[in-house]
Amino acid sequence: MHQIRCKAYAKINLTLDVTGKRADGYHDLKTVMHTVSLCDDIHIIKTDKEIRLKTNLGFLPCDRRNIAYRAAEVFLQKTGISCGFNININKRIPVAAGLAGGSADCAAVLRALNAMHGNPLSVYELKELAGNLGSDIPFCIEGGCALAEGRGELLTRLPSLPKTFFVLVKPNIYVPTPWVYKNLHLDKITEHPDTAGCIQALKDGDIRGVAVRMYNVLESVTAEKYAVINKIKTKLINLGALGSIMSGSGSTVFGMFDSEKTAKCACAYFKKFGREVFTVYSNEYPQTV
Ligand code: C5P
Repeated sequence: MHQIRCKAYAKINLTLDVTGKRADGYHDLKTVMHTVSLCDDIHIIKTDKEIRLKTNLGFLPCDRRNIAYRAAEVFLQKTGISCGFNININKRIPVAAGLAGGSADCAAVLRALNAMHGNPLSVYELKELAGNLGSDIPFCIEGGCALAEGRGELLTRLPSLPKTFFVLVKPNIYVPTPWVYKNLHLDKITEHPDTAGCIQALKDGDIRGVAVRMYNVLESVTAEKYAVINKIKTKLINLGALGSIMSGSGSTVFGMFDSEKTAKCACAYFKKFGREVFTVYSNEYPQTV
């Protein structure tokens, strides 16, 4: 196979708890992640030598600073294959938004290159490579719905949501992930998500049961500094969302809806104000390669 096309899907965090600080500087997490239908498109062509990466966003790095580039590099190192690739990424997932856009691209490149070469690496090995490149990437290798623990790499598969709609609203602020974790004071967190309850609700296919348990402890950092986070949450609830929280380390806020029509109306409201906003649905097992 000399070329391959695939999709890289965004994720949201239905719950996000931080249970401790680790000796390696990272934090121990307990988070329920779910893939959604918003995706980037990736086209890879095999060449004789060199990895070349292009995206439709001029401000993104196209060299080793881009983890999709690193994905190709580590794939070649691990398999001993000698060739190059032209990788073209058409981005739709907002960048640095808590939606794992970069992680999804990285995971999709690993999967696609593996498929292109007749799957020399197992899914376990792909996840191992992924874990070295970033905390969210092992989840993105398989997608669907999972509980992620440890740094994010210890995954337990969970039943996906029945088709559920989400409105993703990206405020016009840039919130770097390391800043969020650095400013998180574990001793000051008084509330934690009911992760076990959320998992049970997923097992019962109970959308409302999931919605009322959606909770993200990282909001204690971001909402404190940026009032816009709570403003969007309140508005989404007023527009009919069953629940609303921030995704990952932000800054995207999402609302969960059981009706596509209500979700689209909420989306139209935010569009009027020029917000970066998307209506998406929960994706069950989205991998295309
Ligand atoms: O692993 P990744 O590159 O996605 O992490 C970005 C930053 O987020 C890390 O440098 C760290 O500051 C923070 N982080 C953390 N604990 C995690 C995941 C991320 O402290 N489990």
